Order: sequence, then C-alpha cells, then structure tokens
Amino acid sequence: MNRPSQIGRLGDLPNEEFRERLHAMADWIADYRAHIAERPIAPNDKPGAVLAQLDGTPPEGGASLDAIFSDIERVIVPGVAHWAHPQFMSYFGCTTTNPGILAEMITAALNVNAMTWRTSPAATELETLVLDWLRQWLTLPADFQGVVYDTASISTMHALATAREQAAPNTRKLGLSGRAELPVFRIYASDQAHSSVEKGAIAIGIGEENVRRIPSDAQFRMDLAALRDAVMADVNAGLRPLAVVATVGTTSTASVDPVREIAKICRDHRMWLHIDAAYGGGLALLPEEKWVTDAWAEADSLVINPHKMLFVPFDFSALYVRDIERLRRLFTLAPEHLHLRDPAGAEINYMDYGVQLGRRFRALKAWVVWRAFGREGMAARIREHLRLAQLFARWIEEDPRFELSAPVMMGVVCFRLKNSDDQVADRQNSEAVARINASGDAYLTQTKLRGRVVMRLGLGNILTTEEHVARVWEMIRAAV
Ligand SMILES: Cc1ncc(COP(=O)(O)O)c(C=O)c1O
Repeated sequence: MNRPSQIGRLGDLPNEEFRERLHAMADWIADYRAHIAERPIAPNDKPGAVLAQLDGTPPEGGASLDAIFSDIERVIVPGVAHWAHPQFMSYFGCTTTNPGILAEMITAALNVNAMTWRTSPAATELETLVLDWLRQWLTLPADFQGVVYDTASISTMHALATAREQAAPNTRKLGLSGRAELPVFRIYASDQAHSSVEKGAIAIGIGEENVRRIPSDAQFRMDLAALRDAVMADVNAGLRPLAVVATVGTTSTASVDPVREIAKICRDHRMWLHIDAAYGGGLALLPEEKWVTDAWAEADSLVINPHKMLFVPFDFSALYVRDIERLRRLFTLAPEHLHLRDPAGAEINYMDYGVQLGRRFRALKAWVVWRAFGREGMAARIREHLRLAQLFARWIEEDPRFELSAPVMMGVVCFRLKNSDDQVADRQNSEAVARINASGDAYLTQTKLRGRVVMRLGLGNILTTEEHVARVWEMIRAAV
C-alpha cells in the first residue's frame, strides 16, 4: 500500500485504512515467517549503526505510515538478530510460533491491564487456568500456586524475598537496615547457577556477597559435600543460611542439580529451597523425562520460563510457591487499592503477588499456544530437539578434532575444538564462533567452562530441522 495516511488531527487511524494495513501486515508477517531462513541472521554493524540511520529529532507533526514502515523495512528489520531463524542456535534457541504470534496480536488489540480481577476478569482467570495446566504438567502438588511475571530473574527475586520475610518477619514493614537483632543471611547456588540469584540478592537487601557459589562436580551439578561444608561453616561463623537455589537446566550446559539431596539439606537447616527450572522445567512434559521433576514437591518455590522451551513467545515466566499466601502477604498493599477490588474478596488480584501493579495479559498467548499444540504436540517437538542435540553430539564425538565439553542433558551441546595448548584452543574456539556469527548463516554462543572457552549450541526453535543442524555442523567444520 502506498498512499498518504488518513490520520486526522483528532481520533485514531480510520478503521478502513487500519483494516487495509492489517491485511498487508498479515502478508508481511506470513512472508517473514515463510522466508526467514533466507535472511542474514544478524547484522555485522558497529554499535550506533541503527541510530545513525534514524532521525533524532522528536517528531513534531505526524509522518505517513508508509514512511514509517519503509524505515522499519530499511533499518529496523535488518538491524535485529533474527532469533526465529532456524539456524539461530544461540542461548536456548527461540520459541516463537505462529499461534503465539496470532495470540500476541489479539493481546495488543485488547491492551488490558491484568492488575486486579476487576480490571480484566478474563485476563486474571485465564492466568489462573494456564498456571494450573502448567502446574499439572510439572507434577507439582496442588498446594503450589503460581503467578506470571516477565522473566525468571523477577520470579527468583520474588521467591527470595518471600524466603527473607519468612526468616526475618516484618522486613516488609521495617526493612533490614538498622535491625541489630538480624543475622547476616546467606544464599547458596552452584557455580553454574544463573546470575539472577545475585541480582535477586542485591534487590532484596541480602547483598551480592552473601550469595555463596558452591563448586559443581564433573557433570556441572552442585557438589553436595561442598554445600554441606559451606552451610556448616556459615552456621559456625554465626551467619544464617537462608535459601538454596537449585538449578534444573543450567545456563551453560543444562546440567541438573541433585534436588532430592539438596532438599534434605534445606530441611536439616530450615532453609528455603527455590528451584530454577527456567529452561529445564519444560522437559517435565515428556513422560520419559519425568526424572527432572524428582523431589520438586519438596521445594518452597520453583520458576519455569515457558518462553525458553514451551513455545510461548517472549516473555512469560511462571513462579510457583508452596503456600503462596506467604508471597501474597508480603506484597499486598490493600487499602490504597480497595476501590479496584471485589468487596467480597473472592477473587485473585495478581498485583498482590509482586512488585508490579500494571501487568500485561500474558496468559492469552500461553493458552492459545498450549491449546493449539497440546501437551503431546509440544512433547513431540521437544523430543525432536533432544534427538537433534544427541545427533549433533555424536557428530562431535566422531570428529577427532573436537570434544564434548559437558554431558548432553537437554537441547544444549557444549563442545570445543581441541588443541594441546589451552590458550590457543580458547582463541580458536572464540574466533570460530565469531566467524560463524559474522557469516549471517548461523548463530552460536560461546561460554566458559572451568575457565576454558567452549562453543555452545542451543536447540529449541520450532523451525529447526536435521538439515539445518547438519548445515551448521558443516559451517563449524569449515570455520575451524
Ligand atoms: C537457568 C536460568 N535461570 C534464569 C535465567 C534468567 O532468565 P530471564 O532472562 O528470564 O530473567 C536464565 C537465562 O537464560 C537461565 O538460563
């Protein structure tokens, strides 16, 4: 469409033009999805390249939508990393799906605020419904209830805040500072855990240095003896062990901490157990992978990011807390918002379960995607990603130039080009990733394991097939 926009001095874009543009947009999105593999995955520009192409003057008069969308085509779309490209194998892959995109369009049109039940009953009740579906898939007992946030970092912060309130009642009212009666609290997580544990500790006044990183074993799982020793050393020093964060699917290697044994240590020392299943929790949907859920019922809280494995477009994180009233009591500020509430008090107001007041209607996209694929459909796709990861690992093992750097537990493969000189190998692995990513045909991550640089492949994209993985493997071999 190429014509001046009909936006007048007052009112919205007229419906007739909106409808035409929506039709054109539908074609654009469908073409983008159909031909995404033909695009370079990411630009090779220097920081500032996008800004340099855009007008920095705040717009005084309105511009035509043609001009705006032509800038989107010319500058914005080539300026992003195309996470949905089937050869984008960085991080945990990408979980955009066509049903998810459709749902996001409805969410944008409705633009409701899910802060209280009254402000949007369906948004609240759908959130309750999808949280309960997911709870059942995760085999969490019914005394776990959830809340949806944007990210796992926010979920973990709220879990740790609840742990802190339990150990130091009234912190909600009094804060931590100036209270001589309070000990120094300690949080434990493995050296493979995500840095969101420290971020949470910073935010809730525990402090980054009071997160103790526990060494991991040869398989990158938290070492239990080291955990016990650290807790005992802290107790003997007069510090107060507060919580352990156990990870199911660590960021670098997708390793799984021994949750059952950690739960026992938590019980012995009356510590809160938070499980970070942000990535790995999705495996619970596969009957043959139920081992990942071992002892989850003994946790106090668990986070899962369906935007990491369960085909919900970014962003969607679910926090489950056993006896969630503990979280609600911590964050409810009832009087100021009584006017938004049902006087009978029978409803759930999700604003009471965290810091945020305004909340996006995230439940809709989860409900659409999960209904469209069903558990079976998602499990089949995840199973295929696991198969591709194992296949890729076999190719690595069969090529004497490479070695696997960690056991392949999920859709993540860490591997390394070998060299008798470790520093040379570090450089070569790092350069190979940079070369591949600069090509625009594939996108990997590099990470450090035991101080050494390794390449890392993450599979989770619904469009990725064996052919794509084979092509990326060819590129890796050519790059080294
Ligand atoms: C295991 C794990 N936990 C937490 C996070 C933080 O996730 P978010 O970006 O949702 O805050 C990540 C990020 O990749 C992760 O890998």
